[in-house]
Amino acid sequence: MSQDDVLYEITDSVATIAINRPDKLNALNVTVVNALQGFMKRAEHDNTVRVVILTGTGEKAFAAGADITEFQNKDSKGVRPLSENGQEFCKFMESMSKPVIAAINGFALGGGCEIAMACDIRYASSNAKFGQPEINLGIIPGFGGTVRLPRLVGLGKAKELIYSGNMIDAEEALKLGLVDHVFESVEALRDGVLKFASKLATKPGIAIKLAKKSLNASWSLPLKENLELEVDVFCETFDTEDKDIGVEAFLSKSKPEFKHR
Ligand code: COA
Repeated sequence: MSQDDVLYEITDSVATIAINRPDKLNALNVTVVNALQGFMKRAEHDNTVRVVILTGTGEKAFAAGADITEFQNKDSKGVRPLSENGQEFCKFMESMSKPVIAAINGFALGGGCEIAMACDIRYASSNAKFGQPEINLGIIPGFGGTVRLPRLVGLGKAKELIYSGNMIDAEEALKLGLVDHVFESVEALRDGVLKFASKLATKPGIAIKLAKKSLNASWSLPLKENLELEVDVFCETFDTEDKDIGVEAFLSKSKPEFKHR
């Protein structure tokens, strides 16, 4: 695995994982997807890390999709591991105990859009562009795009985007709910995301993990089971030290210093 194609950096309790092939618009080849998976696992298992930022280097692309040069001479059997690995990576981010924020600094196309959709929160710079252009190659999304896009923007809009391959800008993505905030520049995005991530890092880690579990279950569990799950995880927070810290801090009008226990 080439470590240089993906960068890993920790600032205080925030890990930043950056796809680093700017001259290829951070296209996701097999090496990159494997490295992303490895670094994401490292961040999950590092107790000093509380929040993860996923981004691309440079000012032009978050990731312009799967690396199309790897599609040549591949049939259905040959391409299956690519789709399965991409989906595994996305599922891993959703299963993580820590929040993952996508900092979308330019093109988020195809697999780039799909990995962003598997993050908990999506912040973008105003130059960001989104789309699922696979149709123009005679193929369809394979990292979960036909599944997560309709859940985020609605079935009709997802069909429009996937059938047409059309790109949308950051403002349109914000209107659709595909991104959660737009910053005026890549620099403002990087500052804003780090600030927000640092804020999340001070929140009680177990409560965040359990909230994420119930929230993500709302994509797959029926209402009744999801509500039962919420009762379970809500009650679980009452066995944490952080609940005592938070409640006592409120009552004594002081600032809580959570211990993530
Ligand atoms: N896979 C492999 N290489 C890619 C790539 C991808 N998904 N996206 C961009 N690149 C490469 C280009 O081939 C080019 O390489 P080169 O300099 O060796 O020729 C380099 O990145 C820069 O891209 P370029 O096309 O010159 O930039 P642009 O600003 O003119 O266009 C895009 C930007 C995003 C519109 C265009 O690159 C594009 O359409 N990319 C493919 C998007 C896509 O279909 N993604 C889904 C794949 S399933």
